[in-house]
Amino acid sequence: MFLPELGKKQLLHWGLDTSKVLELLPESARIEDGELSLGGLRASDLADRHGTPLLVYCERTIRAQVRAYREAAPGALVVYGTKAFANVALLRLLADEGVGADVSTHGELAFARAAGIPGERIVFHGNNKSDEEMRAAADAGSLVVLDSPGEAETAAAAGVRRVLVRLTPGVEAVTHRSIQTAHEESKFGLAPDAAEVEIERARELGLDVEGVHVHVGSQLGRSDESVVALERVLGFLERLHWKPRVLDLGGGLAVRHNRDEEVPSVAEFVRPLAERVPDDVQLILEPGRSLVGRAGVTLYRIGSVKESGGVTYAAIDGGMSDNPRPQLYGARYEALLANRAEELPSGVYRIAGKHCESGDVLIEAAQLPEPRPGDLLAVPATGAYTLALGSTYNGVPRPAVVLVAEGRARLIRARETVDDLLRFER
Ligand SMILES: Cc1ncc(COP(=O)(O)O)c(C=O)c1O
Repeated sequence: MFLPELGKKQLLHWGLDTSKVLELLPESARIEDGELSLGGLRASDLADRHGTPLLVYCERTIRAQVRAYREAAPGALVVYGTKAFANVALLRLLADEGVGADVSTHGELAFARAAGIPGERIVFHGNNKSDEEMRAAADAGSLVVLDSPGEAETAAAAGVRRVLVRLTPGVEAVTHRSIQTAHEESKFGLAPDAAEVEIERARELGLDVEGVHVHVGSQLGRSDESVVALERVLGFLERLHWKPRVLDLGGGLAVRHNRDEEVPSVAEFVRPLAERVPDDVQLILEPGRSLVGRAGVTLYRIGSVKESGGVTYAAIDGGMSDNPRPQLYGARYEALLANRAEELPSGVYRIAGKHCESGDVLIEAAQLPEPRPGDLLAVPATGAYTLALGSTYNGVPRPAVVLVAEGRARLIRARETVDDLLRFER
């Protein structure tokens, strides 16, 4: 499916200039001599050195995002939603900026501890915490978020001291159904009446109930629904005549994956919330994707290119095993050819993964110069919930991850090997 013959001017007028994809790329991204560079390194050099698929994180973008949170909510404790991508080096980098960790399993807690994050900066979540997880959370001295009736008992028995209670305020956010978390039917948290009972029970058991937690959902493109949730939380507290020490408002700010998506800035999203929280209450924020999403770019090598029923497929050496978001959430990405970054698109191509499913399509309609085997495809805004949700489907080992800054690349996760896949076989 090729576009009609278009002159360069028309392409620019139609907004098909590939370089516009730069808006979606990390802060350090440049196009020089026809090539994409990240953190001062040519994408093709990164791919040659570390192989593909390769997930590249830009340090500068992550630090800038943290600082945007600091500016928007100066007194807040920011904890990284580790589920967006659990990686010790990224957690260390974030810790260096004063960020803690929101974890929801024993495994994520281990990542945070390995990064040296102290217990007082760890918030432990989970809608079905095991006794082992509760004990690990207690041993780490983390703040535990009670999520279901009776959890106060397990927490107290495990030696937990400080807790929040997660409230479900009945707000249905405009986002994919799978990542709405504050609607009435949510599997997370407690409706107001149940939350009140749990607070009482926790106090009776001697737990220090520091406050309330709410998380509206993820990939949120507006702040008003979070404001409504916060107002409901404030109403709930007023009804209890309770002034808590802590209000944890979760994460949720969206990341832009394509140029049609509009998302608020950190300040636009956070300020309306921060300004409604009384000065003497400790605000906690738990951003995940907005800290690391735009910082990540995935590089793939294009293999086969073929026509099928009027569609031109370009197949990459990864797919739904390193980024299942298109299949899970209908996520729509854009891409550019990193090695021919200044060439104008000549048509629309379907980017297929290498897996044995027709649904393994990373991008339905990517506007690109005609792709050739060996080209390097760069997919922006792939730093959050991509590899974190990845698998080894079809026996495909998971890709390597590098962190780039100032002309240097550091391997922060080694590429898995087929031997790694066989390690647990008996
Ligand atoms: C409790 C909680 N906090 C924080 C986050 C991070 O959300 P996001 O990555 O959208 O900022 C999530 C993710 O859904 C969550 O469930």
